[in-house]
Amino acid sequence: MTKQHYALLLEADPNKELVNTYLQRSFCFDATYNNELVGVLALLPTHPETLEIVNIAVISEQRNRGIGQQLLSFAEKYAHYNNYKCLEIGTGTTSFGQLYLYQKCGFRVFEIDQDFFTIHYDVEIVENNLILKDMIRLRKILN
Ligand code: ACO
Repeated sequence: MTKQHYALLLEADPNKELVNTYLQRSFCFDATYNNELVGVLALLPTHPETLEIVNIAVISEQRNRGIGQQLLSFAEKYAHYNNYKCLEIGTGTTSFGQLYLYQKCGFRVFEIDQDFFTIHYDVEIVENNLILKDMIRLRKILN
């Protein structure tokens, strides 16, 4: 894990404490292109047979080129081959692009975690001109 990896993880999740906590228990991967880091992925076993994508990020210069989708597809394959039955991911209600991507990849909303960001984050997060308060949790049942 380099400084670059860590900085990228914080782009997906600015709460250092939370990141440090889940990283210890997660399976972590990176994506490289021409030997340069382009993406990170952290997968955390939560409930029995469930793996959660707790962090996914692509460097800003390489976004919108399909790397995020490839990381999601890798997460799904990794979960499947390791006998997990369900893959989950949570994101802010204001993260419209991410919500689009996850639903495009077959994830379905199953829960809203009200005030997750107000409770767990010290700094107010503003995204798409909205104050971020709630988390949407999505899941994909793996066949
Ligand atoms: N805004 C607008 N559209 C988006 C966004 C966004 N933030 N993110 C993804 N999309 C859309 C793209 O338009 C694209 O649509 P298309 O395929 O129909 O053209 C589609 O989603 C797929 O994009 P990819 O190129 O596969 O994804 P990308 O490589 O850009 O990675 C990611 C997506 C990881 C969300 C990236 O935008 C990123 O690192 N963002 C900052 C960090 C972040 O928000 N991470 C997720 C937080 S939630 C969590 O970590 C559990």
